[in-house]
Amino acid sequence: MLPFHKVVENDFQAVNQLIIDQLHSNVDLVENIGHYLVEAGGKRLRPLLVLLTANALGYGRRRHLELAAVIEFIHTATLLHDDVVDISALRRGRPTANAKWGNAPSVLVGDFLYSRAFQMMVAIGNMDIMTILADTTNTISEGEVQQLVNAKDPTVTEDRYLSVIHKKTAALFEAACETAAVLVQADANNTDRALRAVLRRYGYHLGMAFQLIDDVLDYQGDAEALGKNVGDDLAEGKPTLPLIHAMQHADRAEAQLIAGAIREGAVEQLPAIVDIVKNSGGLAYTQARARREADRAIAELSQLPDNIHSRAMVDLAKFAISRLY
Ligand code: IPE
Ligand code: IPE
Ligand code: MG
Ligand code: MG
Ligand code: MG
Repeated sequence: MLPFHKVVENDFQAVNQLIIDQLHSNVDLVENIGHYLVEAGGKRLRPLLVLLTANALGYGRRRHLELAAVIEFIHTATLLHDDVVDISALRRGRPTANAKWGNAPSVLVGDFLYSRAFQMMVAIGNMDIMTILADTTNTISEGEVQQLVNAKDPTVTEDRYLSVIHKKTAALFEAACETAAVLVQADANNTDRALRAVLRRYGYHLGMAFQLIDDVLDYQGDAEALGKNVGDDLAEGKPTLPLIHAMQHADRAEAQLIAGAIREGAVEQLPAIVDIVKNSGGLAYTQARARREADRAIAELSQLPDNIHSRAMVDLAKFAISRLY
C-alpha cells in the first residue's frame, strides 16, 4: 500500500471488497477470469482518485465507494481488451487472461465488466455521472482505435500521439475526479462548475503524466517490477513519444532504423533502439514532458481545500512520474 492509499485506508478496503462482491456471475468462466485479474491487484489508482477527491471535498456519505468500484471495473475491462490488441503476455505479474484463456474469453469478459460497471452506475442514479462515464468509455475506445490506425506509421506526430494518450488513458483519470466532485456537489445541492473543471484538469494532467511515463517504462522499465513485459510497444510498431522525439534528434541512419522498426514492429531490434532513444534524449524528453504535466496537475490543487486528502493528491502526481511500476 502506498502512502496516499493510507489516508483513505478504510474506504479503500471497502472498495476492494465491493469490487470482489460485484464480480458475481452464474457463469463460472466469467468469475474465474474476473477474479484472476482483480486478485492480482493492480495499483487501483483510479478508484483512489475518486476516494481522495470525495474526501478532499468533505463528502460524508458512502456512494463514492460504488463510484470508485465502477471506475476500476471500466479500467479492468479496458485492460482485458488492451492485452488482446497488444498481444501482451504479462499483466500484474501474471500471464495475461488472453495468454491463459485465449482472446475470445478476454474480449467477452471485458464486455461483461463494462456492462457490470454500467449496472452499478445506474444504481448510483446520477444523470451527470452517467453522462460523463458514457462519454468517457466512448472516448477510450476511440483512442484505442486511433492508436491502432497510427500503428506501424513512423510519420505520426507528437500532437497525434498526445491526442491518443489523452483519449485512451487521461480521459478515465479526468472522469474519476470529475464524477467524484459531481457526487459531492449533488449531495450538497451545489452546482459549482468551476470546481468540477479544476478536478477534471487535475485528472487530465495526471493521466497524461501517467501514460507518458508508461511509455518510457516500456523502454527502460524492469518487467519484474512492472508486472508486464517491456518492449510490447515496439513489437506492435507503436510510435510513442520516446521514438517520435528520437527520430527527430538522432542522426539520419539511426532515425531510419527507428522508422523501419516501427513499420515492421521489429522487437528484435529493441536493444539497439533503446540505445538510440537514450542517447538522442527521447526518454529524457518524454520524462520532462511528464514532469510538466505533473506540475500542472499539482498547480490545480491549490484551488482545493488544504487537507490530508488534497495533499495526498499532490503525492499521487509525484508518484506518477517517479514510479517504477
Ligand atoms: C495500465 O494502468 C494501463 C495504462 C493506462 C498505462 P495501470 O498501470 O494503472 O494498471 P494497474 O491497474 O496498476 O495494473
Ligand atoms: C493502455 O495503454 C491504455 C488503456 C487504456 C488500456 P498501454 O497499452 O500502454 O497499457 P499497458 O502498457 O498495456 O498497461
Ligand atoms: Mg497494452
Ligand atoms: Mg495498448
Ligand atoms: Mg504501456
